Amino acid sequence: MVLSNIYSCHGYICLAFVLSVGCLYTSAADTAADTGPKVVLQANRENLKVSPASLKPQQVHISLGDTATDMTIMWATRVHDISVVEYHTGDRQKAIKVEGETIKLDTTNEDGAKYLHRVCLHGLQPQTKYFYNVHGESMDTLSDQFSFTMPPVLAGNTHSFMVYGDLGTETHDMQFLLQEALNEKYEAVFHVGDIAYDLNKGQGQIGDKFLQKIEKVAARTPYMTVPGDHERNDEFLHYRYRFSMPNLPWPMPSDNLWYSIDIGPIHFVLYSTEVFFYDEVNIEEMLQWLKTDLDKANTQRSARPWIIAMGHRPMYCSIDKNDEDCKRDNSLVRTSLEDLFYAEGVDLVISGHEHYYERTWPVYNKRAIQYNYREPAAPVHITIGTLGSVYESDKSTNVGGQWSAFVLSETGKESFGRLKVFNATHLHWEVRECANNKLVDQIWIIQPYHRPFNLPRVFIPNPLGEMGDKWLQNENSFGLESFLGLSGSHYGDDYQTKLTVLVCVFVICLLGLMLRKKVLGFIRLCCLKQEPCNKLKAVVHNNVGANV
Ligand SMILES: *[C@@H]1O[C@H](CO)[C@@H](O)[C@H](O)[C@H]1NC(C)=O
Repeated sequence: MVLSNIYSCHGYICLAFVLSVGCLYTSAADTAADTGPKVVLQANRENLKVSPASLKPQQVHISLGDTATDMTIMWATRVHDISVVEYHTGDRQKAIKVEGETIKLDTTNEDGAKYLHRVCLHGLQPQTKYFYNVHGESMDTLSDQFSFTMPPVLAGNTHSFMVYGDLGTETHDMQFLLQEALNEKYEAVFHVGDIAYDLNKGQGQIGDKFLQKIEKVAARTPYMTVPGDHERNDEFLHYRYRFSMPNLPWPMPSDNLWYSIDIGPIHFVLYSTEVFFYDEVNIEEMLQWLKTDLDKANTQRSARPWIIAMGHRPMYCSIDKNDEDCKRDNSLVRTSLEDLFYAEGVDLVISGHEHYYERTWPVYNKRAIQYNYREPAAPVHITIGTLGSVYESDKSTNVGGQWSAFVLSETGKESFGRLKVFNATHLHWEVRECANNKLVDQIWIIQPYHRPFNLPRVFIPNPLGEMGDKWLQNENSFGLESFLGLSGSHYGDDYQTKLTVLVCVFVICLLGLMLRKKVLGFIRLCCLKQEPCNKLKAVVHNNVGANV
């Protein structure tokens, strides 16, 4: 027994010995045959039966990272590869290599770019231009060189953004849009849902095509997104894998497709309106998150006065289709979010979904609060789904309510939004037509008092300074009614100031009337009639004479 054990043991040792010798021999043979790593790579490529060009990283796009010093870079490849980004500020010798993660998106077709890559860059400097290449380490592939500039963080800078919803591969003016985005050097592009029509179509072919088309811009300008109804397929699978938004894991979790990001004086909060329609289980969680996020944003309002909210579906619209949520009295989006946005003092709400453009007055509870944008006392709503009109254009023949300020619903006219925040008080919004870059609509929102709209407005009037300025500037003011702000239904600071001035003027006039006789008598006494004055002089004279 013992002996046989020893023998079998020896047998194993021998086997191990033979094997290791064999291994050594083969690896030695490999080394001898290997004239460099390229040969192996070549062999790899040949095995895959794809051309080297198709191995190249594609669909490069970037998005803002978790903080103001981070940037996320994503791309796709047809075969598995190690994700590496090399970046530098101009001197390629000093390039830094950062490795990231690769995930396979299973549903894509045979020719599709199944492998998605993400690399997060950290510790970047504001207002600095970075150059980068995306690098496939094991396939030895290299993308074109791209560059991006980090947004500024210091006050005193103007921040500009491109905003639109509902953009797909069929959109006519895609080339214009991309060129415009590059020319204007936007700090970010916000695509508020309905991406590609649809990312998952053709087993991902449409998604690949769309992301390849927008690479020209999205590889250089952070491309920020929210999910729309067209991203819903398979629990938002393609959306969650192909994009990576700040402060979310990747792939993004289907029960948490919302996030916020600070850029300069703006707090952007991006939410999913789809929870109200398809995955109601997440409604409470999202509303709770929104409240927490906006409460926090309000504690930092002096540093970041503007709050801009973006979600796919609007809560106000005046299109002809009556079955749309935004047309209903009890719109799910509106009844779920409006009170919160009002209470948190959200300045601007931007959506897409409806294939037209509409701008509201400052509005709350379906009533316009005022007919101008000076010190708005409620959120302003904008719907910009004008790039999707090629898929189906939404008509608005009967403008919605007194809250609607501007509607553009011409079939086939594609347009986009440009958002500029100049400083703590001045925000400019404009819409331009793609075909000729013609200005279609613009407004200034001037808000010196950012804060929750439902707070009682304690305000010490400054009748001569501010009110005077405003009265002169206010192009919508004609006559007493608009002077008092009575044409709106809300009496804000402006109203109080103006009322105070009117009351003061009234009281002065009244006093003047009542004391008319005494005042006139007094004036007469000293200046107008010589007689009483002479009498007075005589008395004084006499008294003086008596004393002498
Ligand atoms: C804010 O920007 C606007 C527009 O450029 C300008 O008119 C205004 O004076 C600026 N306000 C401050 C306080 O800098």
